[in-house]
Amino acid sequence: MGEYHPPPLPSPFNNTSPPPTLLTQGAEAHLYKTTSLDPSIPAALKIRPSKPYRHPTLDRRLTRQRIIQEARCLAKLVREGVSVPALLAIDWAGHGGEEGGWGGAWLMMEWIEGSVVRVVLEKWEAWMKDQTLDAASVEKEEKRVRGLLRQMGAAIGVLHKAGVVHGDLTTSNLMLRPFGTEVVEDDGNPSMEGDVVLIDFGLASQSSQDEDRAVDLYVLERAIGSTHPRSEPMFEELILGYRNSYKGAVSALKRLEDVRMRGRKRSMLG
Ligand SMILES: Nc1ncnc2c1ncn2[C@@H]1O[C@H](COP(=O)(O)OP(=O)(O)O)[C@@H](O)[C@H]1O
Ligand SMILES: [Mg+2]
Repeated sequence: MGEYHPPPLPSPFNNTSPPPTLLTQGAEAHLYKTTSLDPSIPAALKIRPSKPYRHPTLDRRLTRQRIIQEARCLAKLVREGVSVPALLAIDWAGHGGEEGGWGGAWLMMEWIEGSVVRVVLEKWEAWMKDQTLDAASVEKEEKRVRGLLRQMGAAIGVLHKAGVVHGDLTTSNLMLRPFGTEVVEDDGNPSMEGDVVLIDFGLASQSSQDEDRAVDLYVLERAIGSTHPRSEPMFEELILGYRNSYKGAVSALKRLEDVRMRGRKRSMLG
């Protein structure tokens, strides 16, 4: 297979210096690190390229809808004081590009320093595997992870309280932003000090239903179970953080029991 070439960047990002750097390319979006106005202010650029295999009119409409939906969500959540990147700019009309328009759409948001929780937990689990620790040290280590999980639960609770469900909660869509300008460790054991920031609202929706909230938590529980086996037994700590973060949490958690039960039945039926 040849080297992957992302589609050309829309204007004005095709002539900034230095050019934006591509961080990730999912099925739907490409994520770049760039700068906003002042070259010293980093920003994250999320681009939804047009899909050449879709009918152009339909494609434009879908791409536009998704980016606007995500931008609205971010704007609302920032207003409500939920921990998410601030929205800086958006082009939903696909202006950037040559004549005839470019078809895609993008949004620019505040750059969040730090790593996604997936990386933090993966590093920690790898580090733990190489250690021979006495019981007290293991407990001390697990306490750090519990603290992180508790904060994740609290952040999700605040999101739900604001009337939004995420729709795609995984440890790749939660970031840990270190406090201040902390110097990085490390002997391979990552710091877990910082604020949890929620990202990626491409599948989010407005809802205050227990069912939707419970499914959000269940999806994350399953994701942690499959990617972070050593951390999974501590998921209860996330539930605790969630429970204490808003009043409606108790009934959402009650619903989570049902959602889990349905999940178990489904997997038994194969
Ligand atoms: N505001 C941001 N600041 C820093 N990194 C980000 C930001 N938004 C996204 N990222 C990084 O880019 C990745 C992909 O972004 P995301 O919004 O999750 O898109 P996708 O829909 O492709 O999953 C994230 O997992 C994270 O590593
Ligand atoms: Mg994502």
